[in-house]
Amino acid sequence: ANMNVQIVSDKIAGGQAGYQVFETALQQGAKVLGLATGSTPVTIYDRLVASDLDFSQLTSVNLDEYVGLSADHPQSYHYFMQQHLFDAKPFAHSYVPDGTNLDEQAATTAYDDIIAANPIDLQLLGLGQNGHIGFNEPGTPADSTTHKVALTASTIAANARFFDNADEVPRYAYSMGIGSILKAKQILIVAYGEAKAAAVAAMIQGPVTPDVPASFLQTHPNVTVILDEAAASRL
Ligand code: GLP
Repeated sequence: ANMNVQIVSDKIAGGQAGYQVFETALQQGAKVLGLATGSTPVTIYDRLVASDLDFSQLTSVNLDEYVGLSADHPQSYHYFMQQHLFDAKPFAHSYVPDGTNLDEQAATTAYDDIIAANPIDLQLLGLGQNGHIGFNEPGTPADSTTHKVALTASTIAANARFFDNADEVPRYAYSMGIGSILKAKQILIVAYGEAKAAAVAAMIQGPVTPDVPASFLQTHPNVTVILDEAAASRL
């Protein structure tokens, strides 16, 4: 596959390696950055915040948001982005799916329009333990656009640590589709830890299948993968 795999010693080194991918993309004229939440991107955001890079003329487009959570809910992905990046490094425009719009058709169409108007130059991704990207759970087709997702039991369990208990984890999310992710000019996917090792191996070496949404990245011409040793241990 066309995947450039970089193995780093730890998350701090991964943050530096990821930062370099961003810096190079900006030097090459990237104007729209596709951003991700989760614990994995945090060291990249820390490094971006500490840098002198300027995003004030750029646009960001995030992957996903929980349905039902507003931007000021501490577990919303809007809030996460404000805390980890936007407060320190504001963009000209930052888009995140509107979790407060309970009209699925309106919310997803509006987000597809935003993506169409702002073609993504560099898309950052984390990786779910079951191989999901964004909230595109196993079974999501390669040509999917923004859609409402029923989160799987394993994703709810994995994300429960951020809430008081698993009952508070939203059951649905709006997620950019795999088709939208694959339209990005460049993709950077990052994974750390043993819990991701099976998904990493399936993503890079397994068959291209909706059973492992990240395996569709094998069909993209410009993907960088940053892993620590544990996440790379089954390659
Ligand atoms: C959530 C997010 C994904 C993220 C995944 C892994 O499900 N929707 O975008 O990649 O979690 O999270 P973490 O980086 O915390 O392991």
